[in-house]
Amino acid sequence: MAKKFFIKTYGCQMNVHDSEYMATILKSMGYILTSSEKKADIILLNTCTVRKKPEQKAYSFLGRLKHQKEHRPLIIGVGGCVAQQEGERLLKHMPYVDFVFGTHQIYRLPELINNLNQKEKVCETNFTYQLEPPKKIIPFALYNKFRAYLTIMQGCNNFCTYCIVPYVRGREISRRSENILQEAKMLLDSGIKEIILLGQNVNSYGQDLKEDVSFPELLRRVGTLSKLRRLRFLTSHPKDLTLDLIKSFGDIETLCEQIHLPAQSGSDRILKKMNRRYTRGDYIKKIEMLRKVCPEIAITTDIIVGFPGETEKDFEETISLLQEVSFDDIFAFKYSDRPPAKAVEFKEKIGEKVKAERLAVVHEVQTPITKGKYKEKVGRRVEVLLDSYSKRSSMELSGRTRCNRVVNVRAEPSLLGHLVEVEVEEPLSHSLRGRIIKVFD
Ligand code: SAH
Ligand code: SF4
Ligand code: F3S
Repeated sequence: MAKKFFIKTYGCQMNVHDSEYMATILKSMGYILTSSEKKADIILLNTCTVRKKPEQKAYSFLGRLKHQKEHRPLIIGVGGCVAQQEGERLLKHMPYVDFVFGTHQIYRLPELINNLNQKEKVCETNFTYQLEPPKKIIPFALYNKFRAYLTIMQGCNNFCTYCIVPYVRGREISRRSENILQEAKMLLDSGIKEIILLGQNVNSYGQDLKEDVSFPELLRRVGTLSKLRRLRFLTSHPKDLTLDLIKSFGDIETLCEQIHLPAQSGSDRILKKMNRRYTRGDYIKKIEMLRKVCPEIAITTDIIVGFPGETEKDFEETISLLQEVSFDDIFAFKYSDRPPAKAVEFKEKIGEKVKAERLAVVHEVQTPITKGKYKEKVGRRVEVLLDSYSKRSSMELSGRTRCNRVVNVRAEPSLLGHLVEVEVEEPLSHSLRGRIIKVFD
């Protein structure tokens, strides 16, 4: 009988997509996917270390596996950003883990797994910067059959002082545009309708390449491929959001009206200590330009509260930024030390209680703004790509608007994968409900 694999993923979309590559590789080795970790012969854990919480989750998941391994044969491999950071230490503290592989070692999985033996544990965490997948593998869509991620670059050169990502992903390296286009075509031929281009800072795509392809140019090339219906990208750094890129929202028809633009703080003093290299004023100007070029654009952001030295006044400036910009939604986090990131050494650490209070205030201010944005949509007609079954009801399908809002509608399963026009009837807390007016195709 074929051996089964299970993959548990924490972290950002880059990690989610890396897991899809891992799944593709395991499938090519003859393993089959199982949705039950208890039935798996091999379990890969893809970890995140950007904050304390996801790291702790990874360790508690591993704790559970230890128990399972006492009762049946099981291979456990740990990859991703905790693996990259901890390496050998992981094997030492968790001897039941069979192998550890870093963020640049995914394509070596077959070799790592085939060479496993009881006596010697394997830990591979070098940065190889060889991120091109072996020829012609189409990442297996673990999470969605109609919407696919496509990695265009890896790593980060920005070194925001709070952030561990540059240490666990390495320096920025862009994939060649022809490889990206080839992968995009393969995805479209396999039925994908929406592509999300991925990188820690996609705006600086191409700066390390010999060929002269900027990110807006890459967007134009991917965005005009036949069969592509929708294009998105993640994540942008405000300092690198150029006018050219902003204009793409007006020029490229497939590019959806949505951007995630992490602000982190509304205080210039804190932005400086974070090494973000833009001011509050720069940020707001870019938001204004985005809205001028594309009035419908949905803008989301990330906020950190309790960065070392953040005073009440700094925090109030973050709150006033939320009020001034009126984001469609936000992701807010309490600052946590992530050695070797630089802010670990910063004095004036903020206490847990104050961080929790500030986070609560952020949510208090944002919740009605987010709700208002959902309410505004009622009565409007929106284009939805029906991409999955609804979690709430078997009679419903679920999809996203071009602005990236989740919409549930009553629909026959045969409409899965279709673009439809929906009239929005009801705002729910983080989604919308509506009825289908027209099926586009
Ligand atoms: N590459 C992306 C984001 C990477 S991490 C970008 O540059 O925008 C995702 C988010 O986690 C960040 O935007 C930040 O808000 C948060 N984050 C990163 N390090 C953190 C830390 N040490 N404590 C709290 N939040 C952190
Ligand atoms: Fe981290 Fe900053 Fe790089 Fe984003 S841009 S990954 S926050 S260092
Ligand atoms: Fe986490 Fe690594 Fe992504 S630390 S946020 S999984 S790059």
